[in-house]
Amino acid sequence: MRLISKIKHRIIPLFALSVLAAGSGNAGAQERPPYLDDAKPVEARVEDLLSRLTLEEKVSLVHADTRFTVAGVPRLGIPGLQMSDGPIGVRQEERWSDTNVVDFSTAMPATLGLAATWNPNLATAYGAIIGQEARQCDKNIMLGPALNIQRTPLCGRNFEYLGEDPFLTSRMAVHYIKGEQAQGVSSCAKHFAANSQEYQRNSINVEMDERALREIYLPAFRAVVQEAGVLTFMGAYNLFRGQHCCENDYLLNKILKDEWGFKGFVMSDWGGVHHTDLAALNGMDIEMGTHPPYENNYLAKPFLEGLKSGQFPVSTVDDKVRRNLYVMFKLNLIHDPSVPAVTNVEPKGPLSTKAHQETSRQVAEESFVLLKNKNLLPLNPAKIKTIAIIGANGTARFATGGGSSMVKPPYEITALQGISNRLGGGVKLIYAQGYNAPGGSGRPDRRETEESPPLLNASNLVAEAVAAAKSADVVIYVGGLNHHGGYDTEGADRKDIKLPGGQDELIQKIVQANPRTVVVLMGGGAVEMDAWLAKVPSVLYAWYPGLEGGNALARALFGDVNPSGKLPCTFPQRLADSPAHALHAYPGTNGTEIYQEGLLVGYRWFDTKNIKPLFPFGYGLSYTTFKYSNLNLVPGPEALGAPVTVEFELANTGSRAGAEVAQVYVQEASPSVPRPLKELKGFKKVLLQPGEKQKVSVILDRNAFAHYAPDKKGWVADKGAYKILVGGSSRDLRLAGKFHLSEAILALDGPDQNGQPSVAVLK
Ligand code: BGC
Repeated sequence: MRLISKIKHRIIPLFALSVLAAGSGNAGAQERPPYLDDAKPVEARVEDLLSRLTLEEKVSLVHADTRFTVAGVPRLGIPGLQMSDGPIGVRQEERWSDTNVVDFSTAMPATLGLAATWNPNLATAYGAIIGQEARQCDKNIMLGPALNIQRTPLCGRNFEYLGEDPFLTSRMAVHYIKGEQAQGVSSCAKHFAANSQEYQRNSINVEMDERALREIYLPAFRAVVQEAGVLTFMGAYNLFRGQHCCENDYLLNKILKDEWGFKGFVMSDWGGVHHTDLAALNGMDIEMGTHPPYENNYLAKPFLEGLKSGQFPVSTVDDKVRRNLYVMFKLNLIHDPSVPAVTNVEPKGPLSTKAHQETSRQVAEESFVLLKNKNLLPLNPAKIKTIAIIGANGTARFATGGGSSMVKPPYEITALQGISNRLGGGVKLIYAQGYNAPGGSGRPDRRETEESPPLLNASNLVAEAVAAAKSADVVIYVGGLNHHGGYDTEGADRKDIKLPGGQDELIQKIVQANPRTVVVLMGGGAVEMDAWLAKVPSVLYAWYPGLEGGNALARALFGDVNPSGKLPCTFPQRLADSPAHALHAYPGTNGTEIYQEGLLVGYRWFDTKNIKPLFPFGYGLSYTTFKYSNLNLVPGPEALGAPVTVEFELANTGSRAGAEVAQVYVQEASPSVPRPLKELKGFKKVLLQPGEKQKVSVILDRNAFAHYAPDKKGWVADKGAYKILVGGSSRDLRLAGKFHLSEAILALDGPDQNGQPSVAVLK
């Protein structure tokens, strides 16, 4: 093995430290202790501050002191840490009843929708909005994004994740975190790791082989450490290989900290710590969410006693505190204790600005996936007199549901309101609820904790809906899932992927009454559509579209914007086709779940096993058409350590402007170990005017060819032939080329003795 080059992976300087420099204040420069000297390197400041703390103070820094805070040490200018959920917007304060608290924030479209945009720039903007609003409410750490891989369509938190593919998840997460951390708050990559179901989430023990772990479940977590410099992590609730993830030596110490060189801290998921000794020794830095009294938490008094008795060396608490202080210095939180810290009791200004709301709308618009369109969309209002809007999601609001990712927005535009705003009275609108939504119909903004409203008579609802459909020129059906009754909710998985509330029958009756029916579905992923898909001309998947959702939807339906979302997860024809279910490897036996499908998650399974999905990964139509041509595989650029650049031309061959997500998949011709048939390794979203053609370049680095080799503890790219496939979805590949890798390469995951991951040629 010969060392040929080093890749520069480093903790990226995070953000311009724009707030008041630590150390300014009354203390004269000479008396100022080294930790207040911002000219010194962070590491030196951390060591100095650490040396000034008593043991009791150190322990106070490694566990919560309220539900979302960790105490500070005021005598040294260490403030308390303020945290908030979550991935989709800044969560409201806990005091629901206190109407005086101004804690509204922008509800962004759920992150699965963000992934469906396949637009990393939007992920940066998305993260930046949450970061800015977090700063407004004096939050230091935002508990997101959530990077768990969608292993089964049933998982109750899929709507909060970024889909089934590690490459797409990595790209979106890295951009999200860069955008958020640039605002001076820390992101928190969660839930580390293998937290792909909610069923028995606190007790399920996940077993999988090393390659599945490294190739599917960990890449996004690694990417956000090494490419985005994420400052904090959250351990998952579940067990991995017999040990809770929040007390897991292999995940936290060996992989995250030793191999990847993570310098920030790991907090537990809320109540995810179960033992003092395991948490103390196995890499858990801050215990959160264990119920009060907090001084009795595992990493509080019991830990202090263990340190005093010599059960744990002081180095265990020092490492945790060092990490906490490192994050605080990076966030510029440590201040001169002689100058009182300014903490915000009231928000400093508007939390949800017009600009943020517009970006939220833009994310929603780009997230919509047009699944089918036979000459109905976009609708032309000039040719329509009456529209029937049918379905409980037509008037539903979603932002306050789903669990910890809930957000209290200043408003939320429903589909009905959005369509009505768009049409401005020129077209008659009739609304019919059509079905009882999960958890009851009733007030759409009902909070999860409130009682379900009574169910309405189902046959009356159907009869009303059919009558409405008959009397209209066009039907816009708005159904799907919501965050109630075991759907798309933290703590529970779906039972199946059927549409709830009798919607399959209802849609059939509606389309029979009026064939000009558009079906819009909202939700966190796949549903079966067998019963009606062939009969319905147009279907649009809208995820959970955020506070501007209804306006965005109307703009897509009436052609003001052209849908450009692509599925970040496979939609199977039926649940039994998807890997964990085909193998009966969900939800596990006797509390253990073996991920028998290994690497074959999502499209990797459907493609390798040649099973036709309902809609494949990467799929999504447009109101225009695109032509791919002239594939050219160009060696390099060497400077980036990339073996090849994939070049091709993309043309808009229709009559509307539109964006296409061009996807690049890599297939090894004769792999030395079993590999999925092909894997996504690059993509680019390109906006084209009618008739416009652009040259597109996608660089494939060595990782694009590599599999994980457990015996070598690194990534091996085999020497030999690879197919490069380019197209508009995982099953719509328009161009194919051959590439030959001239030497086998081994890339290590973690830092070498110089703190850099190394790359070597394998002989
Ligand atoms: C969730 C986390 C969340 C935490 C704090 C937990 O139940 O799993 O994602 O950040 O609560 O609300």
